[in-house]
Amino acid sequence: MAFDTFHCSMCGRRVKIQSRADMPVLDPNTGFGICRNCIKNLYHFVEEDESHKSRSKKKTFSDALGELLAKNKPHLIKEYLDEFIIMQEHAKKILSVAAYNHYKRMKYELDNHGGEEEIEKSNVIIMGPTGCGKTAMLSHLSRLLDIPFAVTDASSLTEAGFVGADVEVAVRNLYYAAGKDLEKTEHGIIYLDEFDKIARKSGANNSITADPGHEGVQQGLLKMLEGSVVEFTERGQRKHPEAPTIKVNTKNILFICGGAFVGIEKIIEKRVKKDDANIGFGSEIPSKEDTDKKFNELIHQVRPEDLMKYGIIPEIIGRLPVICTLETLDEDALLKILTEPKNAPVKQYEKLLAMDNVKLEFEEAALRRVAKMAIERKTGARSLKGIIEDVMLDIMFDIPKSDEPRRVVITEACINGEESPKIFPRENIFSKESA
Ligand SMILES: Nc1ncnc2c1ncn2[C@@H]1O[C@H](COP(=O)(O)OP(=O)(O)O)[C@@H](O)[C@H]1O
Ligand SMILES: [Mg+2]
Repeated sequence: MAFDTFHCSMCGRRVKIQSRADMPVLDPNTGFGICRNCIKNLYHFVEEDESHKSRSKKKTFSDALGELLAKNKPHLIKEYLDEFIIMQEHAKKILSVAAYNHYKRMKYELDNHGGEEEIEKSNVIIMGPTGCGKTAMLSHLSRLLDIPFAVTDASSLTEAGFVGADVEVAVRNLYYAAGKDLEKTEHGIIYLDEFDKIARKSGANNSITADPGHEGVQQGLLKMLEGSVVEFTERGQRKHPEAPTIKVNTKNILFICGGAFVGIEKIIEKRVKKDDANIGFGSEIPSKEDTDKKFNELIHQVRPEDLMKYGIIPEIIGRLPVICTLETLDEDALLKILTEPKNAPVKQYEKLLAMDNVKLEFEEAALRRVAKMAIERKTGARSLKGIIEDVMLDIMFDIPKSDEPRRVVITEACINGEESPKIFPRENIFSKESA
């Protein structure tokens, strides 16, 4: 077929074929072919149509946002969070407003396309001790708003070129959480957990070069926080120049950076003391309760300069204008967490055992003991479920052996491992109730 001429089946022009590119679609046997020019025209036509379609799709997205906003005013978001999260009133309020504003800002941009004033994005920094509800709060928030949410451990990220995951992984995780839907990805929430772990070890005063890895990760994250196009390959694909990539614009992604920021209260205390020489907490050895109280009082006073001292670069702090602080949970709070939230562990076990015709009862002293043990473990509410699970294992193994209606009582001694849960025969209250 080399150096021949064909007529384009579309425009009818005669085309001299010197290479395949002159007539990319060509069947030399039948003589059917479409010239490069016609293909170009077709391509432009389709592209224009698609972009027109996506423009009108944006309009409907604005409507969807309008609905989302009407249904999720800050006080309603907080009411929903109240069903699951004990205490943390301040944090729930801040987060409700932050989420509401985030979607408001997006709607504003869609409706005022090309407008001169832009509402700035308000990414959030969320700080509080381990197991106080940071992740739980955010995952409930994303469920309420029905938007994709992905948690990425910031401490696992490395600067490009180092061994480990690049910062793009955070966006890739969201992309998968969104079921690979690009539009959803671009409006989701990324939670960067363990964010405090990428602080410069040295803090503000020492040289940057002492800790180049973490500094690099912060720089990498900065671009994403500001809003940029992030490019990554599909999971399991090695990064090489020809690998197909996915491009995500992070402009409308809400970033929430969270961590325990262990020790930041000392930085705050130092500053506060300097500001007000009268504040003092006595010099005798403080009790656990006093330390918690002091921590809670201090953490709410955190200011950007404290974060800088902690080792977060100022540019990042500037991109995280909303600071949300959570407090340490005391025994009473843990007790409530066991029983009150919609998905409270006690409620869950009651439901599970009810399916085996068993009425489960926890004595108050038993629950208090669980809360005390959780406090000893210093992991906040995180260990509550595990402690109960240990106690419940034998019961959950033995109970299904029979269908007899029974009553199981968990006492303090059960929690201490000193006795097994008590099982009593019982009339079937479930059938009685329904009768
Ligand atoms: N304030 C709270 N109210 C209700 N449950 C909580 C609270 N704090 C923690 N929990 C429970 O404890 C577990 C661990 O909390 P998580 O949110 O993962 O802690 P972290 O603050 O370390 O992210 C979650 O399963 C959550 O249900
Ligand atoms: Mg967490």
